[in-house]
Amino acid sequence: MNTPSTITDAVSRRLHLQSNHPISITRQLIESRFPGFQFHNDLFPVVSVQQNFDSLGFPADHPGRSRTDTYYLNKNTVLRTHTSAHQADTFRADTAPGYLISADVYRRDAVDRSHYPVFHQMEGARTWDRNALDGHSSLASLVWSDVEKLPRHDIKVEDPNPTFHAERNPLQTQHGHAADEVEAIATHLKRSLENVVVEIFAQAKKATGAATAADEPLRVRWVEAYFPFTSPSWELEVFWQGDWLEVLGCGVVSQPILNAAGVPTRLGWAFGLGLERIAMLLFGIPDIRLFWSVDSRFLSQFQAPSDAAAANGDWHIARFAPFSKHPAAPRDVAFWLPGSSGATASSSAAGGRVAAPFHDNDVMEIVRQEAGDVVEDARCIDAFTHPRSGRSSRCYRVVYRSLERTLTSEEVNALHEQIRARLVERLGVELR
Ligand code: PHE
Repeated sequence: MNTPSTITDAVSRRLHLQSNHPISITRQLIESRFPGFQFHNDLFPVVSVQQNFDSLGFPADHPGRSRTDTYYLNKNTVLRTHTSAHQADTFRADTAPGYLISADVYRRDAVDRSHYPVFHQMEGARTWDRNALDGHSSLASLVWSDVEKLPRHDIKVEDPNPTFHAERNPLQTQHGHAADEVEAIATHLKRSLENVVVEIFAQAKKATGAATAADEPLRVRWVEAYFPFTSPSWELEVFWQGDWLEVLGCGVVSQPILNAAGVPTRLGWAFGLGLERIAMLLFGIPDIRLFWSVDSRFLSQFQAPSDAAAANGDWHIARFAPFSKHPAAPRDVAFWLPGSSGATASSSAAGGRVAAPFHDNDVMEIVRQEAGDVVEDARCIDAFTHPRSGRSSRCYRVVYRSLERTLTSEEVNALHEQIRARLVERLGVELR
């Protein structure tokens, strides 16, 4: 068990189902682009290691499985790290033609304005059955006919790589995939997701008071990616405020997953996207912690459209108006790592304990546990190894800033003192 109460407390929040919450509105907006799909929004976050990793073909030594990255409840049970944990089970329960799963996911991670250890993903998948060709001569021709039915868009898409790459993005011929059918599935996948992004940005542009460069055309690009459970695989990136921003991962579902789910005659695609990231773009929300706010100055700003308005494509997205910007209070903490050579660092070894390797995420978790959502950012700003003693030092900068009020310096000092004490107690570091 490495799951603190601050994390388990989040399980009951279900922001993706809270009416008028920006995460929930974002979910509904994307769902509206997938008519006929089944929506699963109620899947419990406690899953087995088998569901989260094994069923998806993660190798035994994959770093994602490590306790520094994943919250374990016991040896065989985790808080899901992605909605893909439900792929196998959902494919098994007949889900033609496709499904969307929205849910809270959990990852031990960095602390900054776009990372939070609990966030929300949407998983989507679409399959076709080789035994139900609907009058078509082949699966490829069936899928191409569905590509023709998709809405068209006129944005510029950069997609420089061929669909297949022998090493990086192979066609799964060993599992019976033919190039023409996978080409068709890949085209259907890409067009479907481009349509989602076009819709999101069209709504963001309509947002009242949008302060963005409204005339800048939307630019998106496909880049090759790797996931153990899709091949070929891609990520979709959007050019946003001067940078390429990754918005989703996707690919052609590995056939062993569908075979194991008892639907070996089906082929298809799957994607996973982060709802916070999309909601931040859509509403102009600058800090991921805001989604967890219970302050009415935040929550009262968002309103889901009526069914009739939504059906009209009229989502009334309003840009978020910051209700205050309180001052930031940075504090540094510097320490020697345990177990690095040197006279004073041997106490734990003398006690017979072997120090666990130092990991950044352990510091992040202590920061979150002690100071919670008043930490805007925490990062290592200096690392060095002393040339003579061989001891390693780290300095972290923690930036305190409440979204709701101005913190007093006494308050910040007290929180920082607690963090320092916990670092010593839990990680065995020596403060400098
Ligand atoms: N589960 C992947 C992630 O969290 C995203 C993904 C989903 C990729 C489905 C491919 C297919 O990064």
